[in-house]
Amino acid sequence: EKDIAIAIDGPAAAGKSTVAKNVADDLHYIYIDTGAMYRSLTYEVIKQGVSTSKEEEVLQVLLNTEIMLHNENNQQVVTVNNENITEEIRKEEVTNAVSEIASFPSVRIEMVKRQQKLALMRGVVMDGRDIGTHVIPDAEVKVFLIASVEERAQRRHKENKEKGFPSDLEAIKRDIALRDKMDSERQTSPLKKAEDAIEIDTTSMTINDVTKQILNLVQAYK
Ligand code: C5P
Repeated sequence: EKDIAIAIDGPAAAGKSTVAKNVADDLHYIYIDTGAMYRSLTYEVIKQGVSTSKEEEVLQVLLNTEIMLHNENNQQVVTVNNENITEEIRKEEVTNAVSEIASFPSVRIEMVKRQQKLALMRGVVMDGRDIGTHVIPDAEVKVFLIASVEERAQRRHKENKEKGFPSDLEAIKRDIALRDKMDSERQTSPLKKAEDAIEIDTTSMTINDVTKQILNLVQAYK
């Protein structure tokens, strides 16, 4: 059986990364979290004291930054220039600035180039906002995951509390709604369902149900 590419897109906190990881594990494929790449750049820009609104300078940071995603004991580890920033990229400061940085056309061109290289060999599950539309338009299986803002915020809130992180449900709702707006309204490759993507509304589904449904699509393709 030939290895394929699976593209999973959708709005913030729709459960893409958990589901994508499960699907990749089941198929023994590589999981690529493209959101982590934009977050890594954002972290590095802030760390270097570069303004997040200056496209040219942000691009220069990217061109000098090696972003690596790897798997250690089934956990995703993210490094930039060999510094482990797995936890740092989930912090509010990064989350609040990432969509501005991800809106710069020159930044997207470079990121998409890197992502396409990773998908060349197939055997990948990639999640993000523009995977089915721009990064791997010829992906064999494309999925678009959605859920209500309320449901997505509740899930994130629960996750935070389980991890012992401070969490404010209303603030999470505002963040999710704002990122959705910025990601869908930007000029360059906005968040949008690819015409040939299968939409799954996960609002009242478990992670397991969603994973199974995607694995069924993969089986049907093969
Ligand atoms: O997936 P995650 O929520 O971690 O992504 C963080 C941000 O990175 C998104 O809100 C979006 O602005 C940007 N992003 C993007 N294109 C992708 C993946 C993420 O613009 N393929």
